Amino acid sequence: MTNPARIELDGQSVELPVVVGTEGEKAVDISSLRDVSGYITLDDGYGNTGSCTSKITFIDGEKGILRYRGIPIEQLAGQSTFIETAYLLIYGRLPHAKELQRFSDLLTLHENLHEDMKYHFEGFPSHAHPMAILSAMINASSCFYPGMEIGKPTAPYFDQHAARLISQVRTIAAFSYRKTRGLPIIYPKPANKYTANFLHMMFSDPYQDYELKPEVVRALDLIFLLHADHEQNCSTSTVRMVASSKANLMASAAAGVCALWGPLHGGANQAVIEMLEDIQRSGDDGSRFIQEAKDKRNGKRLMGFGHRVYKNHDPRAKIIRQTCNTLLKSLQIQDPLLDIAFRLEEAALKDDYFIERKLYPNVDFYSGIIMRAIGIPTELFTVIFAIGRMPGWIANFKEIMDESKTRIYRPRQIYMGPTLNSYVPMKDRG
Ligand code: SDX
Repeated sequence: MTNPARIELDGQSVELPVVVGTEGEKAVDISSLRDVSGYITLDDGYGNTGSCTSKITFIDGEKGILRYRGIPIEQLAGQSTFIETAYLLIYGRLPHAKELQRFSDLLTLHENLHEDMKYHFEGFPSHAHPMAILSAMINASSCFYPGMEIGKPTAPYFDQHAARLISQVRTIAAFSYRKTRGLPIIYPKPANKYTANFLHMMFSDPYQDYELKPEVVRALDLIFLLHADHEQNCSTSTVRMVASSKANLMASAAAGVCALWGPLHGGANQAVIEMLEDIQRSGDDGSRFIQEAKDKRNGKRLMGFGHRVYKNHDPRAKIIRQTCNTLLKSLQIQDPLLDIAFRLEEAALKDDYFIERKLYPNVDFYSGIIMRAIGIPTELFTVIFAIGRMPGWIANFKEIMDESKTRIYRPRQIYMGPTLNSYVPMKDRG
C-alpha cells in the first residue's frame, strides 16, 4: 500500500490516496478533495491531470516508449498489420487466426455504406473539407442502423458497430475524395484487404483498377497502425467525454473527428506540408523559418515538432522517417519537401531553443511526405489520421461502457466573472 499524499489547506491537513499504475506511474486521487476541503484543483490544458485509468496504451514520454496493450510499437510496426493491431486494442489481446478472420469478414460485410448515404454526399460543396464530411457522415450512418442506442457493449451488436465504423470510415473518406473531384464513386472489392481496398476506392477508375504496389499498401497500413491509439490525447479524451454521457459509438467517434481536426493535433500533418510548401516557395532553405518559429511574435511554429508527452523522440516519428525514405527510394521519387524536412530537423535538433524545450519531431512531421508520395491530397491527411485512430477511439469507448462505475465527465471550474449583478432595463442603460 503506498503512503497517502498529505496537503495543508487553510491550516487543515488533508490526506489523499495515491494510485500507482502497473508501470509505476503515480497519481494523487483527488476524488474526495472538494468534499473534505472545499478546494478543487486547476490544471491548464490538463498537463498534470489524469482523467481515468486505462489498460489500452502506455506512453513513457521521457523514454520515448509507446506500447499497445503492453506490446512495443516497434514490434507491432515490424510484425503486425493495422487490422490485427485494431483487434489487439479493442479486445485486449492478439487474435487467434480464426478470430482475426472473423474480424476481417465483419469488416468486409460492413464495407459498403447504406445506399441512401449517397444522397448526403450530394449536399456537400466540392470544396468541403473532408474532415467536416467525415464527422457528419459518421453521425449520419447511425441513423441507418437500429440498436445504436446505448447498452452494454458486450452485446453482440458492439462487434458489428465497431467493425462497421472501422470499415466505413475508409469508404466515407474515399467517397468524399471522389465526390469533391467529380469522379465516379468506386465501390470496395470484397477480395481486397483493408488498406488495399481503401487505395482501390481512392484511385481506381471504372475501367482500370489501381495498381496495388505492395510497398505502397504496406506504407499506408503502417501509417494507420502507428496512429491507432495514443492514450488520453485531445481527441481520445473527447471520445471518452461523449461516451461518458452514454451517447452511442458513432456520436463519440464523430466528436473525436472534430477534436482531431485542429492544427495543434491531428491537423498538424496537413499543416506540416503547407509549411514545407511555403518554405519551398519562398526559396528559404529552412534556416530562415527556424528563426521565425523561435520568435513568438511571428505566430509561427515548426509544425510536426513538439509534444505534450514526448520529451524525447516520438517513437512513431522514427519509424515513419525510415518508411518515408524506403518508400520514396522504391518509387524513385525525389520530393524536395523531404529534403527541406531533413534540413529543418537537423537544424532544430542542434538549436538551443528546441533543445531546451525538448521539442522533437512527432508523428506528423514525416507522415505527410509518405501520403504525398502515394498521391493522397493534403486536405485528406487528417482523415487518414482519423482512419488510423478509429480502433483506439473504439477501445476507449468500450473501456468506458465496460466499466459500469464510470461517471459522466463533468469537470469543475474557478469562476472569474462579475460578482453579483442586476438586470438593467433598456431604458436605463444610457
Ligand atoms: C499530435 O497528445 C497526443 O498524443 C497527440 C498525438 C496523438 O497521437 O494523438 O501525438 C498527435 O497531436 C501530435 C502533435 C501535433 N502538433 C504539432 O505538431 C503542432 C506543433 N506543436 C505544438 O504546437 C506543440 O508542441 C504541441 C501542441 C504539440 C504541444 O503543446 P504544449 O504541450 O501545450 O506545449 P506549449 O504549446 O506550451 O509549448 C511549450 C513551449 C512554448 O514556448 P515557451 O512559452 O516555453 O517559450 O514550446 C514552444 C512554445 O512556444 N513550442 C514550439 C513548438 N511547440 C512548442 N515552438 C515552436 N515550434 C513548435 N512546434
